[in-house]
Amino acid sequence: LQVTVVGAGNVGRTLAQRLVQKNVANVVLLDIVPGLPQGIALDLMSAQSVEEYDNKIVGTNEYEATAGSDVVVITAGLPRKPGMSRDDLLGKNANIVAQAAREALRYSPTAILIVVTNPLDVMTYLAWKVTGLPPQRVIGMAGVLDSARLKAFIAMKLGACPSDINTLVLGGHGDLMLPLPRYCTVSGVPITELMPSQTIAELVERTRNGGAEIAALLQTGTAYYAPASSAGVMVESILRNQSRILPAATYLDGMYGLKDIFLGVPCRLGCRGVEDILEVQLTPEEKDALHLSAEAVRRNIDVALA
Ligand code: NAI
Repeated sequence: LQVTVVGAGNVGRTLAQRLVQKNVANVVLLDIVPGLPQGIALDLMSAQSVEEYDNKIVGTNEYEATAGSDVVVITAGLPRKPGMSRDDLLGKNANIVAQAAREALRYSPTAILIVVTNPLDVMTYLAWKVTGLPPQRVIGMAGVLDSARLKAFIAMKLGACPSDINTLVLGGHGDLMLPLPRYCTVSGVPITELMPSQTIAELVERTRNGGAEIAALLQTGTAYYAPASSAGVMVESILRNQSRILPAATYLDGMYGLKDIFLGVPCRLGCRGVEDILEVQLTPEEKDALHLSAEAVRRNIDVALA
């Protein structure tokens, strides 16, 4: 099994490390900066005997070297600076993602494409559009991360074990994302039973600002450990055909009352990509909030395609 990771920056290199160290797949790491992916690959190959993993990693600046990959993950592009919104990245990243998706799929025509670059839902739509792939084979990573952040905040607040917590965050990967406390539990107990609604509202808000909170602390760059781990579990579910149900940006053609858009909803991820989309019951208010998030994504899709 082979995964191409486009972009050897913070997210790309951390994902590459995770994939080889967990023996998920061999990795081809590609970046436009000469020497960068080659240097990281050599560093990770030097760790092979210490960490005891078998999978290999090579670095390259040429798409030809990525041929025959089963999954392609695009992390290439600019991250935001403190104070920027993800949407501010649209102009610069659209060209990068479109070119990366086209080139990578040219050499790996049967691959499943996972997009990480922001603004996430718009970049996923664009990658789908320029490659002409069936929509099940193009997926955006955001929901796993946003749900994991909410899990972390609930765990910290309750002193609970994060792996006992289940959360669900729908919608676009932006300020209008929709964390759904009704669907959040600790070992099956709804969090609405465990915390006052004011506390839940604070955790929801912190989740919406989770990326910005970390970016403000880091000053240079944005989060990458949790984003890389989140993309990693998606790759794993696909390559090992685990059929995990994970929130991810997928193509909606009528479900949730939305059409011709990529937006975060629960998907079953297996060897064919998105095997199923789950439609969870929403209250009228939640549905309105989801549609508001979709409208924001739609406006940027129009800009990206113009
Ligand atoms: P970074 O700046 O550390 O790395 C980006 C890399 O892309 C650089 O090495 C750069 O040389 C490379 N690159 C630029 N143009 C390229 C091209 N045309 N072809 C190949 N490589 C190219 O940024 P980082 O932190 O790795 O973030 C990458 C992207 O992922 C950003 O857009 C960021 O906003 C996004 N992101 C998305 C998340 C999500 O939840 N979907 C979470 C975290 C980051």
